[in-house]
Order: sequence, then C-alpha cells, then structure tokens
Amino acid sequence: MDQIVIRGGKPLNGTIAIGGAKNAALPLMAASLLTDGVLRLSNLPHLADISTMAHLLSDMGVSIAMQGDAPGGGHMGRVFALDASGLSETTAPYDLVRRMRASVLVLGPLVAKHGHARVSLPGGCAIGTRPVDLHLKGLEALGAEIELSEGYVEAKAPNGLVGGHVLFSNVTVGGTENILMAACLAKGETVIGNAAREPEVTDLANCLVAMGAKIEGIGTDTLKVQGSESLHGADYEVVPDRIEMGSYAVAAAVTGGDVVLKGGRADLIEVVIDVLRSAGVGIEEVEDGLRVSRKNGHLKGFDVMTEPYPGFPTDMQAQMMVLASVAQGASMITETIFENRFMHVPELVRMGADINIHGRSAIVRGVQKLSGAQVMATDLRASSSLVLAALVAEGETIINRVYHLDRGYERLEEKLAACGADIKRVRA
Ligand code: UD1
Repeated sequence: MDQIVIRGGKPLNGTIAIGGAKNAALPLMAASLLTDGVLRLSNLPHLADISTMAHLLSDMGVSIAMQGDAPGGGHMGRVFALDASGLSETTAPYDLVRRMRASVLVLGPLVAKHGHARVSLPGGCAIGTRPVDLHLKGLEALGAEIELSEGYVEAKAPNGLVGGHVLFSNVTVGGTENILMAACLAKGETVIGNAAREPEVTDLANCLVAMGAKIEGIGTDTLKVQGSESLHGADYEVVPDRIEMGSYAVAAAVTGGDVVLKGGRADLIEVVIDVLRSAGVGIEEVEDGLRVSRKNGHLKGFDVMTEPYPGFPTDMQAQMMVLASVAQGASMITETIFENRFMHVPELVRMGADINIHGRSAIVRGVQKLSGAQVMATDLRASSSLVLAALVAEGETIINRVYHLDRGYERLEEKLAACGADIKRVRA
C-alpha cells in the first residue's frame, strides 16, 4: 500500500490548479441515467470515486466514452460522454456501494426512468452511521414502493413516479439530489422543502435544466420541479472543487506561503474565506483565481461551527483544525453534521497538537510547533488534514492508508511538490 512521506517546514509558493468538484461530478454522472441522449460532462476530476461511479454505471449498461482531457489541463478536466440508452441492469451491488456511498445516487434516476431500482444499503462508514432514510421517504412521497431485503433497497414505480411534497427533516445533500433527479421525470409538480443549497446541488440542478428539466428556486432551500416526459442529452462543465480550494488555501496559510489557486472561485467558499481572514490569512481574487498568502504575521485562533451551505462546510473541518493547531490562542471547532468526525484528532495530537474534545466541540490550543510522526489516514478529509499538518511539522511524517486521499485529491503530491513541498509517494 502506498504511503506519503513529507518533510515539513517549506513555505508553499506557486500556482495550484483546482479541478472539478468530485461531489458535483458524482450526481452529474448519475443524472445520465435520466435520458436516452448523451450527457457530455467536462472538467471531471481524475479520482478513485469517479472511477467507481463509472464502473457502477458501465456495469449497468451505460456506455462511457472518454473524450480526453480538456485543453491545457494535463490530466485535469477529463471529458466523459455517458450514454444510458442501452441500460441493461437496475441493480447497484454491495461491492461498489460499500466502496462509495454516493452510489446510492443512482436510486432516484433509475426508479424514475425505469420504474425499478435495487441498490445495496451503504452501511456505516468511518464518520458515522449515515443512513439513507430521508432518500427513501422522499421517493415514497413521489409514489415509489420501497422494500428492504437482504441488505438491498428495492424501489418500484411500475406506472411511474408522481410529483409530491417532500419536506426534509434534516438538510441532506445526497437526499436532495436523489429526489431532484427523480422529480424531473415524475408526473406533475414536486416541491422539495428544506433542500440542500450546496453548490454541487446547484450544479446538478443547472445540468438538469440543460437536459430540459423545469426547475425553479435553484440555489434556494425550496426547489419546485415540473416533471417532464423525458429529458435530452446535454454538454455540461463541472463546477470547481471548493473543498480542494479550501484545503490548498489552508496549506498556503499554515506554511506561510503564497499560492494562486487557479480556477478558484471566492463565491463558492465565502464563509471559509471569512474564517481564514479572521485568522490572519490574506486572500484576494486575482485574474485566474484566488491568491492566498501569509507572508507576515501570526495566525490567530478562531471559532467555527459546521453547518449546511452557506454555513461552514463539514468537509473543511479537519483542515481548519490544523490551522487552529498552529495559530496563537484558542479555537473552538464544533461539528454539527456528522456524529463521529473527529477521527483525525488523535493523529494530530500524536504530532504535537493540543486538542481536547468535549462532545461535538474540539477546543484547540495553538502550539509553537508540530512534529513529524507515523500517522494513519481514516477518511478522506481527515487524511488531508494529516498532509497539512505534515507540511508545517518539523521532521518527517509518514502517512499510511493514502487511498483515502486518492478518493478526493487529484495528483496531490504533484501539485504540492510543484509549489516547493518536500513530498513523495512510496510503495510500502
Ligand atoms: C455529502 C457529501 C459529503 C459531505 C456531506 C455534508 C457527496 C458525495 N458527499 O454527503 O462530502 O460531507 O454531503 O455536506 O456529495 N442523513 C440522514 N438520513 C439520510 C441522509 C442523511 O440522517 O437519509 C444525515 C447524515 O447521516 C448526516 C447528515 O444527514 O448526518 C448530512 O448528510 P448528507 O447531507 O446527506 O451527506 P451526503 O449526501 O452523504
């Protein structure tokens, strides 16, 4: 298994290209199931999760033509043309769903278009139980009959789905996406209340509109969909990855560097920018993206609480904890979205961080320095926090289980090394 080895203490200077958002790309790929036309998606990141979704869809009979990379991007910005007109299978097997929870996003489109779907229940994951009850209740509100058997969800709507009212009791990104896709082919009007407003949901809604769907309220917490008989193919470019942006912004900040995030967009990470600025990080919009720097001055502690968009993203919580660990003073970081998302804390403590957990909050007291250690990645964002800590730590850090990183960060070590980091990947 690969390890990443980092010798910390080098300020990052240079340019990092930001890829397309994994969390937008996954539902967009699932949306190909809604049409017999060709959905051509560009700016897709080259990541393990994207390959898992491609594997799942092609096993179902979706033909996926790779149309190379977008101009000027190296490996970045892949283009896939997805054609689900020859679909032969409506089951998502355990083996793939277990690997990636987002596989459950095929449920809504399949039952809406084919009247049937069988999708393995995802089961638990490192950051909590993460049920899909809200997805299922939403589909039932659109007339699907749902049965659970042998670890699978079986959803049926032989006469098609019918529009309805879906009011989510909790904000759910995947739930909103599943119901939104399903509603596009349901008969009549669907209103989704307390909908997630994440930019990736908005990206999906915009793509569905490009495919002929009628959706009002995009970007708000109430989505109104007039069902269509059918959708057609479209060309669509995936929104930039705000979590990749935020992660590299923290990398520049903790190392005292100066980095341009090429393709970065301030409007996608406003609240992250506010917190970074309050901590003493310089961020400005430049012609081709965002410039993040901390040339002078110390980092200051801050308080932050994760919330649904436009609040502070849970997917940036672990990275901000590294910033808090090397900032002056105390910070309080509260996690409200997932019940078990402090898995990185013991590893950061092993590197010298001073962090105490009280229920859903972590009190972080800034320390003078972190030191390199052998550490273990537990989930995607936890592993990126270990990379960030390693970049600022004295000495060598060896990160194990880097396959978590490969799920969400494209060519991480290449991008960081190009900015001066001492980082390499080794086969253990
Ligand atoms: C998505 C993101 C993930 C991010 C999360 C929250 C993708 C592929 N993943 O995950 O990176 O951390 O949003 O921003 O886009 N819940 C239920 N029942 C449900 C569904 C969710 O109780 O049926 C709970 C979850 O356990 C969690 C909370 O609601 O506590 C939010 O989950 P949700 O927004 O659905 O996250 P995902 O879509 O899985």
